[in-house]
This record gives sequence, structure tokens and C-alpha cells, in this order.
Amino acid sequence: MEKVRIGILGVGVMGSSHADNASTLGNCTLAALCDLKKSALERWKDSGAEFYTNPDVFFKKANVDAVIIATPHYSHVPLALEAVKRGIHVLVEKPVAVEKQDAERLVKAAQEHPELVMSAMFCCRTIPMFGKVKQLIDSGELGKILRFNWIITDWFRTQAYYDSGTWRATWRGEGGGVLLNQCPHQLDLMQWFFGMPSRVTTQLTFGKYHRIEVEDEVTAILEYPDGKTAVFVASTGETPGTNRLEIAGEQGKLVLENGKLTFFRNEIPVSKFRNESRTTCGVPPVWTADIPFGPTPPSIHRIIIENFADAILKGVPLIAPAAEGIRGLEIGNAMLLSHLKGQSVTLPIDSAEYNARLQQLIKNSSK
Ligand SMILES: NC(=O)c1ccc[n+]([C@@H]2O[C@H](COP(=O)([O-])OP(=O)(O)OC[C@H]3O[C@@H](n4cnc5c(N)ncnc54)[C@H](O)[C@@H]3O)[C@@H](O)[C@H]2O)c1
Repeated sequence: MEKVRIGILGVGVMGSSHADNASTLGNCTLAALCDLKKSALERWKDSGAEFYTNPDVFFKKANVDAVIIATPHYSHVPLALEAVKRGIHVLVEKPVAVEKQDAERLVKAAQEHPELVMSAMFCCRTIPMFGKVKQLIDSGELGKILRFNWIITDWFRTQAYYDSGTWRATWRGEGGGVLLNQCPHQLDLMQWFFGMPSRVTTQLTFGKYHRIEVEDEVTAILEYPDGKTAVFVASTGETPGTNRLEIAGEQGKLVLENGKLTFFRNEIPVSKFRNESRTTCGVPPVWTADIPFGPTPPSIHRIIIENFADAILKGVPLIAPAAEGIRGLEIGNAMLLSHLKGQSVTLPIDSAEYNARLQQLIKNSSK
């Protein structure tokens, strides 16, 4: 195989962008498109790609090696499993699933089919600024991490956005709100940087700012097995919003905000100073450094697609294996579960319990 023949399932906002990338990258071709709406395919009528309006027919007939799934959330796992059944490689949009139970089926499929490449569109992992944060944590430059805060309230959305698709912001159609639609990237980065929390306590609100039935504001406290704590705040209702990640470590503090990464480096590790200093309220001297990193690439989705095709063609490691998608998803599920139960929840969460709660929300939904 010289180039990977890619089929796109779901040719809406993201699927169109993926089709643009698949048709212009050097290591793949845009071989087929499938959308339930014929009108969504119109733009591609001269592309030479095959067209389908029925996923079943697509899977039976399309001449593809790989699919990119860019449909609404609930269909991600069924479509991915259908592809796997037919020996087709899969790149699935975020979130990999709506709930942990579904993601478990995806993880199982990935384990049972190591011959297939299964990737997820966690494109923020390719942003050099986030790569640098991971490097500073993993290299021990920050020392033991004590605490972090992530305020991500610049996901502002209008009512018109929520009204733009009938599946949006409903339990039945989308399966969640800001945690499931806007924040999967941050939740993925969170687990990529800090691992999995052991306990989550949440206060969130359904439809606080919009006429929607899912959450549009979240405040969560996370506790980790090594004693680190965190606060996570997300909203689609306020503007101007904030996107600030603050990480406190033994060796100092790292702040990522407004596209800048600043390291306030302690000359003396904080525990040493705390224990040995003769001062009562003194603090260690600090060096302040702006950490350099490369520019954000023009299309971070393109990098994931290129990496997906290279993994198929040359076996290069995936930037974001699909099986890893269960981790950020579980953190988001835990946040919602904590709110629904009105108490802290421990991780790993019981995926059957989460499923029962979600089914109840769907049953009570008016949509
Ligand atoms: N990675 C990112 O940065 C990013 C950004 C935005 C959206 N997304 C994700 O992309 C996915 C799609 O979002 P969108 O904004 O493009 O939605 P959209 O509503 O614009 O497009 C979805 C398309 O899928 C089609 N569709 C629905 N069910 C289908 C099925 N079973 N088979 C084939 N086609 C089907 C719809 O007709 C529609 O055209 C979601 O998972 C979303 O969270 C990811």
C-alpha cells in the first residue's frame, strides 16, 4: 500500500475539514464519504470519492483501508466496531464514546485486533505548548506535583450554536454537555500530564446559561493517589473566559495562560525551604523564565490524520491511541456521576452504574 484509502463517516463541520486534509496529504487519499444527509456530500461531487448515505452500505461496498469517524457521539463506538469487524483501521473523533461502558468495548476491540491501527482525534497533544508542559512534568523539572488548577471557561457558546443541530446538548442525542463536547481535549491532556485521579467531587449545573438539558458549567475537585489535588472549572456560558493551567510543584510553579508558559522556579525546593528555613514567613528566591516552544501548527487535526496514515503504512507510533480515550472520558463521567449522586466518587467508576444513571437522564428527557 502506497497511500491509505480513507473513508469519512459524517461529513459535517469536522468531517469536511478531515476530508480536506485527507485529500491533500501525501500519505492518504480521500476514497469515500458517507453522511446520512445527501446535501452534506454535495461539496465533494467532483472529488472522485465514492458517496454513501447509508453506513451499512458504506461498510459493505466502500473501497477503503481506513475510516475517520466524525459523526455525533453515540455512533462513534458502533461505527468503530463495525470497521474493526471488517478489518478497517479507525480514527475516531473525540470523545471516543459517551460513556465508559462503550469505551470499554473499544478498548477490548483494540486489544483483540493489534493488527489494526486505532487512533483518536486528540489533536491538542500535537500543540508544542502542551508538549512542553508534558516534558517539564515528565523530566522532573517541576519536581513532585503538589496541585494544579485548570480554569477553562473560554468555551463560550451561543444559543444559536446549541440550536444548530437537533442532537446537540441533549442526553439522547449527545449524551452530555461541556464535559463531553468541549472539554474532552482538556480531560485528555489532564490524564496525559497527571495520570488518573482517585476521587472526584463535583458541582455542576444543567442548562444554567442556555436552553439545553445538559451541563454548561462545572466545578470539580480532584484528588490523586500521590496526594496531589486539583480544581477544574469549565463553562460555555461566560465571556470573556479564561484558559489558565497552573501547576504547583516542589521546584516551583508553571503557569500556562494567554499562549504563554511561565516557570517560576524555586531556587530551593519548597519542602526543603519549609523544613529548614529559619524565617517565619519567608519564601525561597524565584527565577522567572518564559519557556520557549514552537508555534501551533496551522492544522493540528491534519497532524493526527498524517500520523494515523503513517502508523498504517510504516508502523510509526500513534500520537493518540484510541484506547487511551477511555481515560479522559472516565474523568468526565466521574464528574457528572459525582453531581448526580450528590457525593464524591472514587475511580475507577462503576461503568454499569454510570450507564444506569445516563439511561435515566435519557428517559426523563423531553427531547
Ligand atoms: N477534534 C476537534 O477539535 C473537534 C471539533 C469539533 C467537533 N469535533 C467532534 O466531531 C464530531 C462531529 O462534530 P461536528 O461538529 O462535525 O458535527 P456536525 O453535526 O456538523 O456533523 C455530523 C455529521 O454526521 C452525520 N451523521 C450523523 N450520524 C451519522 C451516521 N451514523 N453515519 C454517517 N453520518 C452521520 C450528520 O448528518 C452530520 O452531517 C463530534 O464527535 C464532535 O465532538 C471534534
